[in-house]
Amino acid sequence: MSSPISSLGILGAGRIGRAIAALARDAGLAVEMVGSTGPFETVVRADAVVLAVPLSRLDTLPDVSGALVIDAMNYWWELDGAMARFEDPSTSSSEIVARSLRGARVVKTLNHLSGYALEELARAHSDPERLGMAVAGDDEADRDRICALVDALGFTPVVAGALADGVRFEPLTEAFGADADAEELADMLARFWDSQRGRVVARARGHAR
Ligand SMILES: NC(=O)c1ccc[n+]([C@@H]2O[C@H](COP(=O)([O-])OP(=O)(O)OC[C@H]3O[C@@H](n4cnc5c(N)ncnc54)[C@H](OP(=O)(O)O)[C@@H]3O)[C@@H](O)[C@H]2O)c1
Repeated sequence: MSSPISSLGILGAGRIGRAIAALARDAGLAVEMVGSTGPFETVVRADAVVLAVPLSRLDTLPDVSGALVIDAMNYWWELDGAMARFEDPSTSSSEIVARSLRGARVVKTLNHLSGYALEELARAHSDPERLGMAVAGDDEADRDRICALVDALGFTPVVAGALADGVRFEPLTEAFGADADAEELADMLARFWDSQRGRVVARARGHAR
């Protein structure tokens, strides 16, 4: 069995980076967080490295080759500005992130709940109000490690499939921004392909539905 994640590096010290850092410290992890001007060396050597910068800053990130990376970012054109490479519905934003960060193993999660939800709505296992958190990644062992981390942070992980399935909890989906428990979230992810956005993605990927 793979080892649990005990140290977390966070690239981006803004709204979501700070919320994730607080949760991780509460869960007993060693946390190193840095903004655009800080030193990256120890951050990128952590057991897992969270990307919490605007997607428009993707090309300014330090080298994370070899790292297990959590992509908590979203393409939000009002904030990021229009970026043609993220407009193609055939590709999830995390697939593009993974291609751009050569040599990193990318898992997408912690992106679809607000900073407020992360700060205020993390709950113990026994709490019936505990929210679900979607997790997508191509490597099953990496995904399992990140699921265990999500669980330790106070959310029930819901495996959404490979990185390409990250599209099911991006902006413009039912799951995005929904405070849903694990069962409701799994239903939302399953319904994606019947949604307007799902049909657009399926057509772009050449899957008739
Ligand atoms: N806000 C939310 O509730 C929320 C929820 C889920 C996901 N997200 C996603 O998380 C990402 C960040 O959103 P945010 O709201 O946290 O943004 P934010 O408050 O504007 O913070 C962005 C942070 O990124 C840092 N940064 C920029 N370039 C960097 C680099 N090359 N290396 C390290 N740090 C860098 C900035 O540092 P400087 O200040 O030094 O420039 C700043 O600390 C976005 O993709 C967003 O869609 C946000």
